Amino acid sequence: MAAKKPKTSPAERAPEALSEKEAKAELTRLSLTLAEHDRRYHQEDAPTISDAEYDALKRRSDAIEKHFPQLVGLDSPSLRVGAKPAERFEKVRHARPMLSLDNAFTDEDVAEFLGRVRRFLNWPEDETLEITAEPKIDGLSASLRYEDGVLTVGATRGDGAEGENVTANLKTVEGIPHTLKGKDHPAVFEVRGEVYFPKDRFAALNETLIAAGKEPYANPRNTAAGSLRQLDASITASRRLQFFAYAWGETVPDIQQIAKTQKGVVEQLARWGFATNPLMRVLNGADDLIAYYHDIGERRAALPYDIDGVVYKVNRLDLQARLGFVSRSPRWATAHKFAAEKAETILLDIDIQVGRTGVLTPVARLKPVT
Ligand code: IVH
Repeated sequence: MAAKKPKTSPAERAPEALSEKEAKAELTRLSLTLAEHDRRYHQEDAPTISDAEYDALKRRSDAIEKHFPQLVGLDSPSLRVGAKPAERFEKVRHARPMLSLDNAFTDEDVAEFLGRVRRFLNWPEDETLEITAEPKIDGLSASLRYEDGVLTVGATRGDGAEGENVTANLKTVEGIPHTLKGKDHPAVFEVRGEVYFPKDRFAALNETLIAAGKEPYANPRNTAAGSLRQLDASITASRRLQFFAYAWGETVPDIQQIAKTQKGVVEQLARWGFATNPLMRVLNGADDLIAYYHDIGERRAALPYDIDGVVYKVNRLDLQARLGFVSRSPRWATAHKFAAEKAETILLDIDIQVGRTGVLTPVARLKPVT
């Protein structure tokens, strides 16, 4: 008996090899899939497929529609606003990559960080080495390029090398000037910092959603990220996000012609009109850094924004330049992270789940807390 050729599923066949009924089912499947990916990308800021995979799904839907024009429906992805790849954000290559920070978790890690810096610089033990300390904001980083004092491009971090052009949206964020204050601006200055959702505004947004019978958002960071990637900048504006400037990318002239220290750059940023963090301090020695860390930790719950640690940076820019980078992090900075925030809640019930093999697993149902 001749073996039957296995039938391919409609999803695997070219448009011309589909019956009209199969094409209709395939279009419905693609439309629902694309709508789900749009929601993940635009609303949750958590895409689960690559742009290339998204584009392939979209191209297939378009090709089937081209073959069966009678099936183009009102819910067609080709007619949906905000669904087409062309309407997604344009990519921007950062002139200098946006790096991440090395982490310290314990007091010993902090002492080791200082030890590494001193050894690299050959810095005597008894000589002061100024270190800045500031809160680590739990938001999303953004890069803002100013040419002759005018904001030209604002981008998300993306993968560090390439982000998305969200200039119109960043212009609605408080703490980001559209033109730098004062005169005699550098030809190029890329400002880097963190966009965040203030806690009280986040709570107010969720109250409005709950009052309207809608699902509230889970946390300020992801909601800030989603708000910044809205195709309609008026939605971003309505969220009233804020910004803290704390770093820079490309500058012309060189940064050391603008200021001599980290603190000096941040003060210059404030004069240009950026919001900068008022809790930044210049310290010396591991004991001071650790005391600062505990002090900020105690104030954490009362701060109007979420933080997940503190950041230490060598203050002098000439020393930062000597220290340079290891892989993707600067040798002159580290993030001292807080343990995950603890909260008390109420045990609502204990469910007993029955596994496939009959194993019983008790599962606590807790009242949700942020
Ligand atoms: S400095 C070259 N300062 O933390 C280093 N980063 O884990 C530039 N972050 O990607 C970063 N608060 O998004 C710096 N006060 C702060 C920060 C901060 C939050 C974020 C930033 C960075 C990430 C690294």
